[in-house]
Amino acid sequence: MSTIKTYSPSNHIQKNAHIESMTRYQELYQQSINDPERFWHEQAQSISWFKDYQQVKKINFNEAKIKWFTGGKLNACYNCVDRHVEAGLGQKTALIWAKDEAGQYEHINYQTLLEKVSQLANVLKSQGVQKGDRVCIYMPMVPQTIYAMLACARLGAIHSVVFAGFSSEALRDRIVDSGSKVLLTANEGLRGGRTIPLKDIVDQALDGQDIVQSVLVYQHTATAVNMQKGRDLDLTEQMQKQNTACPIEWMDSEDPLFILYTSGSTGKPKGLLHTTGGYMVYTSNTHKWVFDYHEQDIYFCAADVGWITGHSYIVYGPLANAATTVIFESTPVYPNAGRYWQIVEELKVSLFYTAPTALRAIAAEGNAWVTQHNRASLRILGSVGEPINPEIWKWYYDIVGEKRCAIVDTWWQTETGGILISPLPGATPTKPGCATLPLFGIKPEILDKNGQTIEGAGEGALCIADSWPGQARTIYKNHDRFYETYFSQYKGYYFSGDGAKRDADGYLWITGRMDDVINVSGHRLGTAEIESAIVEHHDVAESAVIGIPHDIKGTSIYAYVVLNHTSTEHNAEQWSDLIKNQVKTLIGSFAKPEHVHICKALPKTRSGKVMRRLLRKIAHKDFDTLGDTSTLANPECVETLIEQRKQMV
Ligand code: WT7
Repeated sequence: MSTIKTYSPSNHIQKNAHIESMTRYQELYQQSINDPERFWHEQAQSISWFKDYQQVKKINFNEAKIKWFTGGKLNACYNCVDRHVEAGLGQKTALIWAKDEAGQYEHINYQTLLEKVSQLANVLKSQGVQKGDRVCIYMPMVPQTIYAMLACARLGAIHSVVFAGFSSEALRDRIVDSGSKVLLTANEGLRGGRTIPLKDIVDQALDGQDIVQSVLVYQHTATAVNMQKGRDLDLTEQMQKQNTACPIEWMDSEDPLFILYTSGSTGKPKGLLHTTGGYMVYTSNTHKWVFDYHEQDIYFCAADVGWITGHSYIVYGPLANAATTVIFESTPVYPNAGRYWQIVEELKVSLFYTAPTALRAIAAEGNAWVTQHNRASLRILGSVGEPINPEIWKWYYDIVGEKRCAIVDTWWQTETGGILISPLPGATPTKPGCATLPLFGIKPEILDKNGQTIEGAGEGALCIADSWPGQARTIYKNHDRFYETYFSQYKGYYFSGDGAKRDADGYLWITGRMDDVINVSGHRLGTAEIESAIVEHHDVAESAVIGIPHDIKGTSIYAYVVLNHTSTEHNAEQWSDLIKNQVKTLIGSFAKPEHVHICKALPKTRSGKVMRRLLRKIAHKDFDTLGDTSTLANPECVETLIEQRKQMV
C-alpha cells in the first residue's frame, strides 16, 4: 500500500481538536475496547439523565438481545432542546432552514424551537397520541418536520419518517407495518423549483384503510388541497391554538425512539427500531468526534431526514450537542451546481457532510462553480452512503477544501444508528477512498467464508464483534428476522452485509455489499424489492435486477424482464417506459431502472434457480468470462441475451 499517498492531519485542525493525535486516538481506543463499561459510562455523562441507569450494557448477540444503560430514564427532546435553553442558550440558532429558492434562509433559535416543538406535541396530544403510539412523518425538508420528530420524542411516541420521494404504495406499506395512527404531511413539497403533490400521495396511500385517524397538513405553498372532514387538519392553525409549554414524558433507556424502514436483500423493507438512551449517547458523541464539533461551528449535513443520516446527523446528534444545524430543502444542482458552496459562503459553514453521488454530479459541471464562492469557513468535509472513489476524494480535498480541510469518509448503516468507521480530523492520516479506522468502542473483524477471523491484511465479510450504544435493537414486530439477517451467519458477531479489505497498515476499505442490496445515488434498494414491483405489471412474467456501475449514481439499475406470452404489443422503448413507470408507482422515482432488457427467458439451473452471476456478467458486458453454461436448463438463451446486450446503448 506504499504507493498510496497518505494525508496527515493539518496542524490548524489538530491544535483545537477533541482528539488531537494518533497517540491519543490509540490510547482512548484501547481503553474503550479493554473496558467498554467504563468507557461508555464516561461518554454517557455528555447527555442528561432524569434517572441514573444501573447497568451500562447487557448484550447477547446469540439471541440478538441488546440493551444499554438499563434502568436509566431520559428524554431525547429534552436533551436536544430544553436543556440548552435552561443552560442559557435560548438565543443560539438551532436550525437554519435553507429554502428551495437560493439565498433564502430562516433562522430558528433554541427558545423558539422549544416553543414550536411543545405546540406541535400538544397538537399530537389533542389527536390522542400517547407514549408508544406510532406517528408517520411524510414531509419535505422544512422546520416543521424537525418539530414533528422532536414532538414525538417529547411525548414518547415513536416516529416513522418516510422519505417524501416514496410513492403512495410504499408509504401505505410503511403505515400499515408501523400501525401509525397520526400522519404529518405538507400540501406540497418543493424541490429544485418543482412541486411534489404530497397530500395527494397521502390520500392515495390512505384510500381504503382506517389505520390513520388524523392527518396534519402543513400548508407549505399557496396551493389549496382537498381536506377530508373529520380526518385532516391544518397543522399551523392547530399549533397556533396550543400552549407553548408541554410536559416531558420520561422514557426508559430502552424505550423506542423511532422506526426507520430500509431495504434488505429479500422481502419487504424492514422497520429498524432504535431506542432512546444508547442512541442519544452514540449520535451525540460520534458527531462531536468525527466532525470535531465545537460550539461556534456551523454544521451543514445535506441529507434528507427521510434517511438515517438525517435522523442521526441533522437532528439528534447535532441538536444534543447544541449545534447550529442547517436543513436543506433543495438539490445540489438548483439553481446551479454551485448551490452547496453558495450556502457555505452565505452561512459560513465550517462542517459539511454529503454523499459521493452529489459530489460526482457537481464535479462534472466544472470547478468554477466551486471556486466562485468563498469557502474559507470550511474545516471538515464528510462523505457518507457509498464508497467515495479516490478521484472524487481528491477533488473534495484539493478543490472544495483547498487542501486545508480534513476529509472524513464515514462508514455506517441504518442498522448502526451512527458512524462506526471514520477518520478523526485531528488524529487520523487519511488515504483517498478509505474509511480508515474504527471509532471508539467499535471492534470490526473481517471474516472469511468459514467464519474465521482474518488477522492482518486480507478481505472478507465486515462484522462487528461487540455491541455499541447506537445499534438498532430489533426489526419492528419481527425479531426473528432481525436475528436471521444480522446475527445468524457469523455466530457471536453482527454482520453488516458489506465486504471490507484490511491493508498492511490496518486501515479498512469498504468493498461494497455482499448481498443483493444496491446503492443507487446513495439510496439503498433491494434487488428483490424492485423485481417484485416489476412483476406486479400484468404483462410481466419474470424479472431479475442487477446493479451496474454508473458515473454519477455509483450504481444504476439494470432490469431483465420476461413478458407473458399474452402480453400486449409494444416496442422496446414503450416497454421500457412502462416498466420504469411501474417501479415509480410502487416504490418511487429514485428506484427507476436505467436499463430495461426485454428478453424471452432468464438463464436457469436445472433446479430452476435464476443464474444471477451470469446475468450480472452480461449486464456488465463481461462476455468473455461466462464460464461453462452447458449445464443450464436453457443454455440457448445465453447467446441471445449477449446479442441483445450488444445492441443496447
Ligand atoms: C450501506 C448502508 C450510512 C448512512 C447512509 C446510508 C453503504 C455507507 C459508506 C461508506 C462505503 C458505505 C454500505 C452500507 N455505505 N457509507 N463511507 N463507504 N459504503 O445508510 O441506507 O442504511 O446504507 O451504505 O454498503 O451497508 P443505509
